[in-house]
Amino acid sequence: MSQKPSPKRHLITSALPYANGPIHFGHLAGAYLSADVYSRHKKLLGEKTLFICGSDEHGVAIMLNAKKAGIDYQQYVDKWHAEHGEVFKKYGVEFDYFGQTSAPYHAEETIKWFHELNDRGFIEPQDSQQLYCNDCHNHLPDRFVEGTCYVCDYETARGDECPNCGEFIDPVRLKNPVCKICSSQNIKEVTVTQYYLMLSKYHEEFRKWFEAKKGSWRKTVWPYVDSLTKEELKDRAITRDLDWGIDVPLENCEGKKLYVWFDAPIGYVSNTKKLLEERGSQEDYLKDWWNNEETDLTHFIGKDNIIFHTIIFPTMSMASGRAKGADHVPANQFLNLEGKQFSKSTGHYVDALEAVDEFGQTALRYYLLSILPEQTDSSFSWEQFQAKVNNELANNIGNFLNRCLKFTQKHWKEGMASEFYKDFLKSEELKVLSEDLIEVNQLLNEQSFKKGIEKVMVIGNKANNYFSEQAPWALIKEDKEKAGKVLAASSVYALCLGVVMQPFLPDLSVGILQHFDNILDEEKKSKIYQGKLDVLEEVFQNGHCLEHDVNALVPKIQDETITEYAAKLEKV
Ligand code: MF3
Ligand code: ZN
Repeated sequence: MSQKPSPKRHLITSALPYANGPIHFGHLAGAYLSADVYSRHKKLLGEKTLFICGSDEHGVAIMLNAKKAGIDYQQYVDKWHAEHGEVFKKYGVEFDYFGQTSAPYHAEETIKWFHELNDRGFIEPQDSQQLYCNDCHNHLPDRFVEGTCYVCDYETARGDECPNCGEFIDPVRLKNPVCKICSSQNIKEVTVTQYYLMLSKYHEEFRKWFEAKKGSWRKTVWPYVDSLTKEELKDRAITRDLDWGIDVPLENCEGKKLYVWFDAPIGYVSNTKKLLEERGSQEDYLKDWWNNEETDLTHFIGKDNIIFHTIIFPTMSMASGRAKGADHVPANQFLNLEGKQFSKSTGHYVDALEAVDEFGQTALRYYLLSILPEQTDSSFSWEQFQAKVNNELANNIGNFLNRCLKFTQKHWKEGMASEFYKDFLKSEELKVLSEDLIEVNQLLNEQSFKKGIEKVMVIGNKANNYFSEQAPWALIKEDKEKAGKVLAASSVYALCLGVVMQPFLPDLSVGILQHFDNILDEEKKSKIYQGKLDVLEEVFQNGHCLEHDVNALVPKIQDETITEYAAKLEKV
């Protein structure tokens, strides 16, 4: 009775990836796979859900790499945007919209936010000291300058952050600064006006909102943000002197652009607007979604993005009045590769596209979901990948599905009578199956994805054990009807597995459910997913006949392939 009613709509976002280099397993496990599982889960429940992402295309890091590649900024980001779209597609990460922050519709929305914040007194100009290159005549914010860190003496600290000690760098304090555009050391300090987001003015309101999240946010998130914001919120410069980005929409601001981290999270909102427009929807992106108290807003991110998603963007949203603050920010820790950080530059790195072409979506999603760094950092290992896929997925679930479907097709080519299902549909096993399905639902509602997939595997093991214990291949020699009942029960397991796997392993789910599509519709599927297994009486009221040929659903991974992939990493 006292249970909170489930929210009416879900807005789900994944951190907009920089259009600045390949997506690797660390990204997938950090911000995309769990978001995709959550979105598929909510959609299966029949709840209104939008899953929004896009490319993050501004900022100095992108400018530097486009210059290096010798192509213009737009061409450069378009290329990465296209490649990322392909990666997500192959991994089955199904956004409702995947836009670009360099697009005009995004600038339009961002400017509205700027004006709203400005009109409400949350943006103010302030003079600041900046570096300027006398040789190439560029301002040098952020990564346009490198120098020795004034905290730890690391020699190539960047103008925004020291990669060695993590210090948030004030570029004018760097020792021996070097221009990253032309390598000159002929650098001077100039006084320039920048616009600041006055977070300090929202401190009290922010804390009121934030404190209500205590208890529901992860232990790796809430206390960290609490310690950062207890005393004060620091104002932040949100403009830069650059030639790539969204123009600052004020007089006398020629040559000034909005800072990439100001516009990027607004991408969630602009992409929602664009999606609804493209769908011809009657809904309003703000009133019905972003500014609707009935919306449950979840940002999926890696831990390096916590500050922007729990402090700055929620403050921008609430202070501007354009959007509500996030309800959940289930930030993940990092995923390493064989114990070390992924690094494209040193070659300690796996091409996600090549891997998915080799191993397929199911194997990779399964392994990555089972090692999601939800509470602590975790590590991808080729050996463990093979072991988990072969022993858990192929030997158990794959083996069960294969045996069950092939055996049914062989001995009941014309289909199986509805009588065969009756006993199992009233059995104790079915009750347990229903409870297990309900538990998967609960885990996903709590955003516990790793435990969710573990529970699915438990269901798979029960199915496999049932099949092995009943040994229908022996039974059929004495009593075909009895064997038929075992197979009917097994196909109920197979069907339920196909349904409950849909959020986690969509490809495998399709492979299973194609054998049932003649007796299933979306509504029945949703009921099964929720463990409302009474519906099975209706599903199997006319029995069931397998219409498609049965192929092996989970191929095993060969030793040679793994050795080859592992060796590629050892070489570097
Ligand atoms: N591009 C950033 C990163 O990869 C994430 C941006 S998230 C957004 O770290 F909210 F700003 F969009
Ligand atoms: Zn220079």
